[in-house]
Amino acid sequence: MSEQNLTITDERTGKSYTLPIENGTVRAMELRKIKTDTDDFGLMSYDPALMNTASTKSTITFIDGNKGILEYRGYPVDQLAEKCNYLQVAYLILFGELPNDEQLAVWTHDITYHTFVHESIKTLMQAFRYDAHPMGMFISTVAALSTFYPEANKVDDAADRLAQIKRLIAKVPTIAAFSYRHNRGLPYVYPNNELSYTGNFLSMMFKIGEAKYTPNPTLERALDVLFILHADHEQNCSTNAMRAIGSSRVDPYSAMAGAAAALYGPLHGGANEAVLRMLSHIGDTRNIPEFIQQVKNGEGKLMGFGHRIYKNYDPRARIIKRAAEDVFKVTGRNRLLDIALELERIALEDEYFISRKLYPNVDFYSGIIYQAMGLPMTMFPVMFAIPRTVGWLAQWQEMVTDPEQKIARPRQIFVGPRRRDLAK
Ligand code: CMC
Repeated sequence: MSEQNLTITDERTGKSYTLPIENGTVRAMELRKIKTDTDDFGLMSYDPALMNTASTKSTITFIDGNKGILEYRGYPVDQLAEKCNYLQVAYLILFGELPNDEQLAVWTHDITYHTFVHESIKTLMQAFRYDAHPMGMFISTVAALSTFYPEANKVDDAADRLAQIKRLIAKVPTIAAFSYRHNRGLPYVYPNNELSYTGNFLSMMFKIGEAKYTPNPTLERALDVLFILHADHEQNCSTNAMRAIGSSRVDPYSAMAGAAAALYGPLHGGANEAVLRMLSHIGDTRNIPEFIQQVKNGEGKLMGFGHRIYKNYDPRARIIKRAAEDVFKVTGRNRLLDIALELERIALEDEYFISRKLYPNVDFYSGIIYQAMGLPMTMFPVMFAIPRTVGWLAQWQEMVTDPEQKIARPRQIFVGPRRRDLAK
């Protein structure tokens, strides 16, 4: 018997089955051949929360959670964060290779010249209540974009797909900044095509009276790093939503609105806000031992620690920690950093966290940086959605062009009542 097979004996029938093993997996549809008799539907696998189910083959992002490795198209994320800007990495994630100088110039120009939104989008956003949550505005506005580009439903047309991809990557910073300005009661600032992707975003966020806004190069660079670290993370909750919705062949704007909605949840893109609340609640480094004891007693979690995939230091957290120091040189030190550093030091020496392999994740430091930049907590999920746009779109494109994929439609185990008749 080749080691490429799995042999299963069904004790109900005594029959044996040989299932091929490919890439460390067996195809769930192979189980369907295992039947008690010809009328039997066949065996299924049961996997709530898809803990052990590969839903796709992918060439985009590799993660080894035990070793703390994260690579986009084979490049370690720390090298990309050090040497590239966000648009270079976006190109890599989408097209598989880093752009040469000429390709980068064209790509940067294409993105830069799609940053404006239709005036009706602005009017639509202005209709939200003065205190609308920016993420709610972001999700709704991304969905609304589909009505401006009806051709976007031609998802099998490569040129058409690329046009929507460019539009979305270009317009999400504008929508994000408009939602922030709306929340603050400030006039919306139009894009400035002379600035970089992150420089323009800072301008749309923070320009007040000046004729020309000059972004601080340290903050511009720190945002590039943060955007690179958040660009993709393989089959996470929101990406899975993007693929599932897109599998119905709906346009990418509608699919991405659904993905952004998934990101909005506190267990996903909302965790950095929870970290900030936790650090504020602790209030002082002296209170940390007591807080740690409460966590160990099961009275709450250490937010920003632990990960479904990483059972080692999240490589993104390490890089973000360095970026935080750079940002604080410009903005002044966020007093919550001292609490975070001490909390991390104590937790990493504590048997409770060591034995459970709980390490800081990407959200442990990102909120502290965003707060130092002057962003309200409600903007944190939006700051995650801007760079994740490229990951969602690359994964969507991979799904749409994958001949093995169909409309996503899981099975269920029905445990409710079977047919019963109404009383006569
Ligand atoms: N603080 C204290 N204990 C924890 C924590 C934590 N942050 N995370 C896990 N544990 C414990 C948990 O109680 C369990 O202990 P026991 O074995 O005694 O029951 C053990 O560690 C295993 O945890 P789990 O809940 O089975 O792990 P999971 O893979 O289901 O959960 C997680 C992963 C990220 C939801 C969880 O670690 C958590 O809630 N962390 C805090 C929230 C957070 O920081 N989320 C951001 C995730 S990264 C950003 C993103 O990708 O969106």
